[in-house]
Amino acid sequence: MGRVLLTEEQIAARVAEIGAQLTADYAGRRPLLVCVLRGAYAFMTDLARAVDLPVEIDFIAVSSYGSATRTSGVVRLVKDLDVEITDRDVVLVEDIVDTGLTLRYLRRSLEARGPASLEVCTLLARESADLDGLGVRYVGFTIPGDFVIGYGLDAAERYRNLRYLAVYEPQD
Ligand code: PRP
Repeated sequence: MGRVLLTEEQIAARVAEIGAQLTADYAGRRPLLVCVLRGAYAFMTDLARAVDLPVEIDFIAVSSYGSATRTSGVVRLVKDLDVEITDRDVVLVEDIVDTGLTLRYLRRSLEARGPASLEVCTLLARESADLDGLGVRYVGFTIPGDFVIGYGLDAAERYRNLRYLAVYEPQD
């Protein structure tokens, strides 16, 4: 396994802080937390339990059309939400914002449905990511360009169940 980037304790402390922030920001409301599958599942689970409000949860899944077309921004909706979000306070929960393409697509798609509000909460954001116009209100950690695994993030579908985040070293 590669170098540990964020320990279980560091992640838990930051998730608690973001949960408290959401609890304050959405006081008196019932935000809908939308998990972007699959990478965000671990963060979503811990975050939802760190928010002291009657939150609701739902899931959405997207897929890029392979790495070759990734830069073209072509994203495909694989699983849509089960609930209507018109007039709802929606918080999109992501594991990582890398190029921002996925988020740009999701924002457009969800905004068209007329939510009362739409904010983004991501555990990780690349230093290089251009977050302008993406409405990323909550960022857990800003990280450099290393390939990271664990806490939901994978390398060819492995390592999502690690309790910490590590830099991937392919010779594992
Ligand atoms: C990852 C991550 C984001 C997206 C970020 O998903 O969960 O959704 O990439 O990249 P971007 O900012 O460059 O668009 P991935 O396609 O690896 O799927 P997964 O969540 O199922 O692992």
